[in-house]
Amino acid sequence: MQRRDLHRMALAHALSAWVGVAPVQAAGRRPTGPNWQGFPFALGVASGQPRPDSVVLWTRLVFAEADLAHQAQAQSVLCEVFADEALRQPVRHWLIETDARRAHSVHVIATGLQPARTYWYRFSCGSAQSAVGRTRTAPAEGERVERLRIGQASCQHFEQGYYVAHREMAQRDLDFVLFLGDYIYESSNPKYRIRTHQGGVPRTLEEYRARHAQYKGDADLRACHAAHPWVMTWDDHEVVNDYANDLDRDYTDSAVFLRRRAAAYQAYFEHMPVRMGPDPCAPHQMRIHDRLVWGQLAELWTLDCRQYRDHQACPDPNRGGARVVVGCEALQDNRRSMLGAAQEAWLMQGLANSARRWKVLGQSTQMSSSGVATPLGRSSFNDAWDGYPMARQRLLSGIADARLQDVLVLGGDVHMNVAAQLRVQPNDDRSPVVASEIVTTSVSSRGMSEKLLATIRDNNPDIRHARADERGYTLLDIRPHGMSATFRTTPFPVQQDSVLRDQARFEVLAGRAGVEPA
Ligand SMILES: [Fe+2]
Repeated sequence: MQRRDLHRMALAHALSAWVGVAPVQAAGRRPTGPNWQGFPFALGVASGQPRPDSVVLWTRLVFAEADLAHQAQAQSVLCEVFADEALRQPVRHWLIETDARRAHSVHVIATGLQPARTYWYRFSCGSAQSAVGRTRTAPAEGERVERLRIGQASCQHFEQGYYVAHREMAQRDLDFVLFLGDYIYESSNPKYRIRTHQGGVPRTLEEYRARHAQYKGDADLRACHAAHPWVMTWDDHEVVNDYANDLDRDYTDSAVFLRRRAAAYQAYFEHMPVRMGPDPCAPHQMRIHDRLVWGQLAELWTLDCRQYRDHQACPDPNRGGARVVVGCEALQDNRRSMLGAAQEAWLMQGLANSARRWKVLGQSTQMSSSGVATPLGRSSFNDAWDGYPMARQRLLSGIADARLQDVLVLGGDVHMNVAAQLRVQPNDDRSPVVASEIVTTSVSSRGMSEKLLATIRDNNPDIRHARADERGYTLLDIRPHGMSATFRTTPFPVQQDSVLRDQARFEVLAGRAGVEPA
């Protein structure tokens, strides 16, 4: 064995604590394993968190009725990476052992790759072979990159529509998909149902696993995972609607709720191409926030807006969680935080030190204000950044004080396309625009009424575009001199044969904060 291989093994060992599997170098042959009756790779393949020299490769074995006898056993899965689509040029391979404790999921940190390169990969186990996935590494950090193309998406309630957005993204030339949360939904609304969740509201690990597996049963979603690496964060529905840190809206005892959160986080990890799973010593904690560098062109911070936030301000004592509040003094409390102190400090330090042109925040919800005037004062939706106005002000004044240019905030959650100016004092002309915001509509989840949205538009001149009636995704094209965001949409509900079109396109020019219609 060469020194280099020893080094790789040591690295693999170090990472195995995070990925929960023990990667070993295979001897180059197919792993022994079951003679499958069903198809164990039915949930597809995925890749994510690209770096210049590595990417995460994911799959999970599932067991058909006739294969259930194998479920109790550990299985060996071979993962192969190729330099060409025809799979004639092998690059590296790994033999991974997995078992029922991690729902037979497989996470390979595929290291030793070249920057800015497309690779193809597949998994094998016994008689079965997975579909082939395609992925791409990030450019070298010093590289002068001319272009970054992102598919920005969020909120894919399975029951409320089909995944035409994923079908289209799978066909496009993208560097990665940026998914900003609400990947699964725990709940149902019988009024808006064109297909059906199996089972009730998940609470246990087994129930969250089943919900994730059902979503991965969608062929368009699988195709989009197989076509591009994904960069991901989460919002509330991956656990339960409106949760904040250790609290849900039923005011469940926090120790009980954190066990549910641990189950949801574990199932999330088991189904996603992410590097790290729950903390083995504290399984209700899982780090998802991350930093990604795209050559000299861009730096992206994906943020966690759920796990560390303060509870919503001025909640209804009978039913917690989100609501619209008026005259809520707690909002002015400077100690309240959306990101938690550690993540906020990490972000501010990263922003201040960034030498990249575009500084991009990938976060779950809307940052611009959407309050409206009422006889009792201005309203605030207490679950989005309007519910954490002092934290928003800290972030935006930090950007202003450091004279940071070209800060772009990307969001999801609110089921509408938004292009907005971000100022330290929202909607105040005397407060300069310091950053630009693009919120993507939902892939499938229903949006708010036009009547309410019209009032929000009228009360918020910083919002230059807002439409909640259509579903889809947003195509971001980031270049050194400017970026554009094209909202690709179709009316609600998305039918199987719906077709997306351009709803609107907005631009941000380098050196000049603020969105402009293109
Ligand atoms: Fe959502």
